[in-house]
Amino acid sequence: MRVPLLDLKPQFAKIRDEVKQAIDRVLETQIFVLGPEVQKLEQEVAEYSGAKFGVGCASGTDSILLSLMAVGVSLGDEVITTPYTFFSTAGSISRVGGIPVFVDIDPETYNIDPSLIESRITPKTKAIIPVHLFGQCADMGPILEIADKYGLHVIEDAAQSIGSKMKLDGQWMTAGAIGHLGCFSFFPSKNLGAYGDGGMVVTNDEGLAEKVRMLRVHGSKPKYHHSLIGANSRLDAIQAAVLQVKLKHLDDWSDARRRHARFYDEAFADTPIKVPKVREENYSIYNQYVIRTGHRDRVMRHLKERGVGCEIYYPVPLHLQRCYAFLGYKTGDFPESEAAANETLALPIYPELSEEQLSYVAECVLEGLK
Ligand SMILES: Cc1ncc(COP(=O)(O)O)c(C=O)c1O
Repeated sequence: MRVPLLDLKPQFAKIRDEVKQAIDRVLETQIFVLGPEVQKLEQEVAEYSGAKFGVGCASGTDSILLSLMAVGVSLGDEVITTPYTFFSTAGSISRVGGIPVFVDIDPETYNIDPSLIESRITPKTKAIIPVHLFGQCADMGPILEIADKYGLHVIEDAAQSIGSKMKLDGQWMTAGAIGHLGCFSFFPSKNLGAYGDGGMVVTNDEGLAEKVRMLRVHGSKPKYHHSLIGANSRLDAIQAAVLQVKLKHLDDWSDARRRHARFYDEAFADTPIKVPKVREENYSIYNQYVIRTGHRDRVMRHLKERGVGCEIYYPVPLHLQRCYAFLGYKTGDFPESEAAANETLALPIYPELSEEQLSYVAECVLEGLK
């Protein structure tokens, strides 16, 4: 048996007709960049995440970049984030001239540890970017309190967590609409994936939404009048039409991932494999199902031999990336992130997996441990 880490073909087989009709609709309009299809998706994604405004852009990376620009992060400003994330989170801070200031993670959830944030705040700190990694929200309560105390903006990197939820003050909140701005990626491997690149910023702040809307078109409003210096970061109408179709299925797909997660959780109970921990009053959408073991490399080799796809997210924490040597961090600075990078492994979790496939994956993991 072969079980890839991700296979988008069975999903496409189920929505083929709907998607083709949606693409046809765009072809008939011959409006390819922004326009009514993008506006409709913006409203739908904003509503889905409980935010007032959505602004489509070219990628998840750009949604972070535009958010940082919108809150005015610029040369020499510090932005606090986690070193255990996809490069994009920190890379975007650097691209606006800012300095990523890393804070270690909670070893249970792999998300930024809020208790370590306050000691890293300086007069130069302008924002915090918590990343909702693997499908689970970061611990936003204390993060929002710290941000409020020091007057910082909170930009959620929700690239992996569209639809994930957490309870705050007794109320369920959805990823993206908890901080000042929320950033989504529509990269094809995400729970809501386009047929190419795409991203969106959501926010409840009308002023910030308007700024992001201008920044994605070179800071212009009206056209050819530039009061800001922005970027070319627009969402394509074809992607927006595809995403409208897929959004209708998103909850079913995320539910299937959650069922698969329960299957694995049970299969690995009473074994040395550490399963993902979801905090109480949290709802993970399992963009990734990440196990942990001191024998990670051996398990990974065995899975590959047995035809099971798996991946390390992420093998090198960002403070140890060569391009960030100038920041002066060294091995040992963020022990939890470094340990996670050495011991974690993502298993196949895509919605269409059969029980037989899930059993096979679990069996191969346990074999690999021996
Ligand atoms: C945590 C995180 N942040 C940001 C991004 C960037 O998104 P994109 O690839 O759409 O630019 C990704 C996705 O790859 C991600 O996983």
